[in-house]
Amino acid sequence: MLQTVIVGHGGPEKLRMREGADPVPGPGEARIRVRASGINFADILAREGLYPDAPRPPVVVGYEVSGTVDAVGSGVDAALVGTEVIGLTRFGGYADVVSVPVRQVFAKPSGLSHEDGAALPVAYLTAWQLLVVMGSLKAEETVLIHNAGGGVGLAAIDIARHVGATIYGTASSAKHPYLLERGVHEVIDYRATDWAKEVDRLTGGRGVALVTDPLGGTHWKKSYRALRSTGRLGMFGVSTATSSRLAGPLRLGRTAVGMPFFHPVPLMNANKAVFGVNLGHMWGEAEMTAGWMQTLLDGVEEGWVRPHVDRTFPLAEVAAAHTYIEERRNIGKVVLTS
Ligand SMILES: NC(=O)c1ccc[n+]([C@@H]2O[C@H](COP(=O)([O-])OP(=O)(O)OC[C@H]3O[C@@H](n4cnc5c(N)ncnc54)[C@H](OP(=O)(O)O)[C@@H]3O)[C@@H](O)[C@H]2O)c1
Repeated sequence: MLQTVIVGHGGPEKLRMREGADPVPGPGEARIRVRASGINFADILAREGLYPDAPRPPVVVGYEVSGTVDAVGSGVDAALVGTEVIGLTRFGGYADVVSVPVRQVFAKPSGLSHEDGAALPVAYLTAWQLLVVMGSLKAEETVLIHNAGGGVGLAAIDIARHVGATIYGTASSAKHPYLLERGVHEVIDYRATDWAKEVDRLTGGRGVALVTDPLGGTHWKKSYRALRSTGRLGMFGVSTATSSRLAGPLRLGRTAVGMPFFHPVPLMNANKAVFGVNLGHMWGEAEMTAGWMQTLLDGVEEGWVRPHVDRTFPLAEVAAAHTYIEERRNIGKVVLTS
């Protein structure tokens, strides 16, 4: 087995290859010969020591893989061996083989490549929870998707289109042409202009029904203000923490200090709702997320779920892959291949 290990907190140089014996699948597990592993922004935060959920180094991160089952543990149907699957991994995905509980393993649609398969689970499940499950987005509403050009952003666009809603997206200007092609109605360069003024202008001062915000800190206050009556704010990340020049945990501290407090009375009087999403804390709800996953896999067959892989890197070049994302060059997902 080959794995990429985070050996300590810091830059991409903290990622190293490690060789070891293949894992033996335990009871209820399937072992997957991995062809592709999805990279998520959380992996970068984990490498930098900014992701409290990640085990301390040395750690192999990675939440999602696509490949072929080559062995199963006790209690698992042997017919699974040889099938092409997508797996959700609770860390350990940056590897060419990994064992996963079968409840986190799904048949890969035959029309989907392994690269696209590895790009699907985290981005689409997160976006589904944000827009449909908790955001209750409706066709007549407008959603504002921040970081629209990232993996979760593109997934959210697909889902909002499926719902039939009007879509505003914020992203760096280089990503705008692709986002318009993908179905965003209005794109805003949030790094060069005040996006809130732009939303005001576009909505005649009314605001939008739903904002999905992975930036965190003071940004959440601004997103809350951009909601119209009955509007919902979905908070699901703290990307801004990585932009700070402060060292280690101080970066998170600064982001935390800028966060809003939502008092019930102003919430009530404003007719607004706020909610949080952390897919990494949904492992205890495997049945619920499996239902969402099935809807999304059906969406692949129906044509409205369209994972977009911007670039692939061989597993051994994971450091370059992280740098590529940190330089904001990706549109959609970056995937490791083995
Ligand atoms: N809570 C959850 O369950 C959950 C699940 C998945 C992801 N997330 C969070 O959602 C966010 C996006 O994740 P993703 O996997 O979609 O990311 P991604 O594909 O890597 O996209 C990241 C995009 O975010 C923008 N960005 C904003 N601040 C950035 C920064 N400081 N450094 C680099 N890029 C920055 C960039 O777009 P522009 O160039 O357009 O600014 C970049 O392309 C992250 O905060 C992640 O932690 C949360």
